[in-house]
Amino acid sequence: MSHYDFSHSVDRADCRSEKWSRKNIAQVCGNEDALPFWVADMDLRACDEITSALEEENRRAVYGYRENSRLTENFISFMKARHSTDLREENIAASQGMLHSIALALNLFTKEGDRILIPFPSYHPFFDMVKANGRVVVPYYMDLTDKGFVFDWEKLKETGRTCQAILFCSPHNPTGTVFSEAELRAVLETARERDQLVLCDEIHSDLTYPQYRHTPMYKANLGIGARAITFCAPSKSFNIAGEHCAFALFSHSGLRDSFIEMQKRLYLSTIGYSAAVMAEAAYSKGLDFNEALCQALSSKADRVENYLKENCPLLTFDKPHASFVGLIDCRKIFDRVLADSRSHSELYDGERNILSHFFGQRGGICMNDGTDFGSRDFAPFVRFNFGCGDDLLEKGLSLIKKAYDWALSAD
Ligand SMILES: Cc1ncc(COP(=O)(O)O)c(C=O)c1O
Repeated sequence: MSHYDFSHSVDRADCRSEKWSRKNIAQVCGNEDALPFWVADMDLRACDEITSALEEENRRAVYGYRENSRLTENFISFMKARHSTDLREENIAASQGMLHSIALALNLFTKEGDRILIPFPSYHPFFDMVKANGRVVVPYYMDLTDKGFVFDWEKLKETGRTCQAILFCSPHNPTGTVFSEAELRAVLETARERDQLVLCDEIHSDLTYPQYRHTPMYKANLGIGARAITFCAPSKSFNIAGEHCAFALFSHSGLRDSFIEMQKRLYLSTIGYSAAVMAEAAYSKGLDFNEALCQALSSKADRVENYLKENCPLLTFDKPHASFVGLIDCRKIFDRVLADSRSHSELYDGERNILSHFFGQRGGICMNDGTDFGSRDFAPFVRFNFGCGDDLLEKGLSLIKKAYDWALSAD
């Protein structure tokens, strides 16, 4: 039995949380009183080993310039223990966060006008970042089947024919899919043949459920040698999402040298004091926490799936293989939702975020609208964040049911 508490939520209503801000909630779902199950952080206590490390720092109460060499050593040991992956310091660059590192690599190793392949649905900063940096988004749309979103690797390969890079998320956000080593190797082999750069965000990888196995892109690439950069971070794994610290793993030393050179030129090398303290404690002492969390999240995902099957049979939860977010497929009630948005337009925001407004207004629950993930075709989906304690999860599920029952009784 784990001594960590994943059953109780922490009250965050007054702690300047982006997720719990009533103003933000109102923007997403039209109802500022709705309970939040959107932004990808958890309402659970962070890893105790991290809070103890911070307490020790606070007792000393000196937060001067820090020497961080042990941070990378600890990360290397963690990767060996958690993912059976051998890393060497000369393949790694530490950085101030995931998105900043991906953006830096995108700027350095592709040029304006380059075509970047992104699987859709996609974590929205990916396509925003590509566009904001003058590159072109080339979307590969996953197949939408009875079982939810499914990768067709041949189509992905075909769509990427003219691309200079692929920006990938493994495990995938928002579907939560964990890819097999063979699938990753196929992507890498194609990339090598075409001399494409592979940028792989693995921020959710440490939260892979015990019955699945995540293969780091870095490891899958050994023996293939595609130009690839794999990005890892402790933020989701140890429930410290607001702290910014990440690691980039490079297939080629030239890529690493250029990355570090640019970090230096822009004075982006220094990791904030508390982020470094937390990451160091997480990677050196947090493995038990991380494994217990994976087990707890897998059980919570089972609970969501079973609850919806029993109580809202027209909805389908595309159960993820990792992490604490998953898509709820509302295609079978979406016509009713559209009808509501037309007959009660005062509750909605025009054509924007129709489904998240439906759940916000009719159920009092705030979830990410499917369209956030890159296409109007995803409008019949919401992303549900179940990274919370049992009471809050049950409350959230009952609010989904409230909206669902409303839709079914509105005939
Ligand atoms: C796939 C993915 N990448 C990156 C991030 C954000 O990373 P950071 O805040 O460390 O830049 C998130 C957060 O939700 C995410 O889901």
